[in-house]
Amino acid sequence: MASETGSSPGPSLALSPEHEMIRQTARDFAQREIAPIAAEHDESGEFPLATIRKMGEMGFMGIEVDEAYGGAAMDTLAYVLALEEICKVDAAHGTVMSVNNSLFCYPLLRFGTEDQKQRFLQPVASGAVVGAYSLTEPMSGSDAGNMRSRAERQGDAYLLNGRKSWVTSGPVAGTIIVFMMTDPSQKQKGISAFLIDPRQTGFSLGKTEPKLGIRASATCEILFEDFRCPVENRLGEEGEGFKIAMTVLDAGRIGIAAQSLGIAGAAYQASLEYARERESFGQKIGQHQGVGFQLADMKTRLEASRLLIYQAALAKQASKTTGQRFTLEASMAKLYASETAMFCAHAAVQIHAGMGYSKELPIERYFRDAKITEIYEGTSEIQRLVISRLELGLR
Ligand code: CAA
Repeated sequence: MASETGSSPGPSLALSPEHEMIRQTARDFAQREIAPIAAEHDESGEFPLATIRKMGEMGFMGIEVDEAYGGAAMDTLAYVLALEEICKVDAAHGTVMSVNNSLFCYPLLRFGTEDQKQRFLQPVASGAVVGAYSLTEPMSGSDAGNMRSRAERQGDAYLLNGRKSWVTSGPVAGTIIVFMMTDPSQKQKGISAFLIDPRQTGFSLGKTEPKLGIRASATCEILFEDFRCPVENRLGEEGEGFKIAMTVLDAGRIGIAAQSLGIAGAAYQASLEYARERESFGQKIGQHQGVGFQLADMKTRLEASRLLIYQAALAKQASKTTGQRFTLEASMAKLYASETAMFCAHAAVQIHAGMGYSKELPIERYFRDAKITEIYEGTSEIQRLVISRLELGLR
């Protein structure tokens, strides 16, 4: 019988009944609701609104948010377990779930006022509305502090102007956290965060990004032209935006690590099964060391990623009481898991050979989906920069 990846983390890492339950619930949901539509949505690029709504009803869109604000009131480990299961079946659904939970709900929980939580967090955590996060601009990606968009204070409001890019869920979002310069002379310390309603005048959608992978998640540019944002919709203090953006990305990177683990697990599982069945030169291909050793490397990297992710999830959970940063744990988990996703997806295509290259199997989709995990929410180079700076005591 094929061993299922993630089925048993071993006695020292035994999950609680609640954690087993959320993992099983997410696994069943993904098999029942997402598996039948994943390939079709990947092909068409159409946003899977119906399943995303159902994920909201299941509590997957605000896992760590209190029930009072529409969430499932579970912990960070529950979040990564559920996200891994969704991403084993479809990374595009996982992207929407990750942005909703980590990049929208988390900053509201950390920095939102009670009024903001009632107005903005509740609809997103309950899944009634999709949330988005907008930091990147056409001329500033990794160098996020170097943005050009401006928010100018005018009485009891800010006037927002500029162009933001690569906004996950931008075309369908009911509310967006956007970062803009309030004082360019202060550089990173002159950035502020705003909660905006895209139905208001002054907001429009720009070009849709034609993507290699996670094609069913909607990504676009968003444009602001004299968009009026009342002062009460500023998240945190004026000038605190960059720190908020970075704090939130620490959480986001744990989500992307869990997504990577899901993709890697799916690629591994398919390869294992294929290696047990497919024959060449008179034996199962898994019996050729060239394939068997690849499987060994995939499995080892996968389980090492899992440990880094659980460590990061526990560090984030602890930060809720200690207030301590979990930047190092998050960056290490994201770096290693995303490179593992790419490693496993690449090996899976090679092991499946012609069938891995064909759209008849999901292997080529895993390969296309894996690549983004090494890019968004901080490239592998940025993760190495963050880790090395922290280790050298430069930050
Ligand atoms: N938590 C809290 N504060 C942080 C922090 C963190 N993780 N990282 C930095 N800061 C603080 C610093 O302490 C510093 O504050 P002080 O001056 O008070 O000490 C301030 O922020 C500036 O920090 P740096 O000098 O380190 O800033 P930098 O300009 O050198 O940039 C960087 C650092 C790590 C390179 C950062 O710019 C970065 O992470 N870049 C990548 C951006 C990124 O991940 N973008 C992806 C966007 S989202 C997306 O992909 C789309 C989507 O929808 C999924």
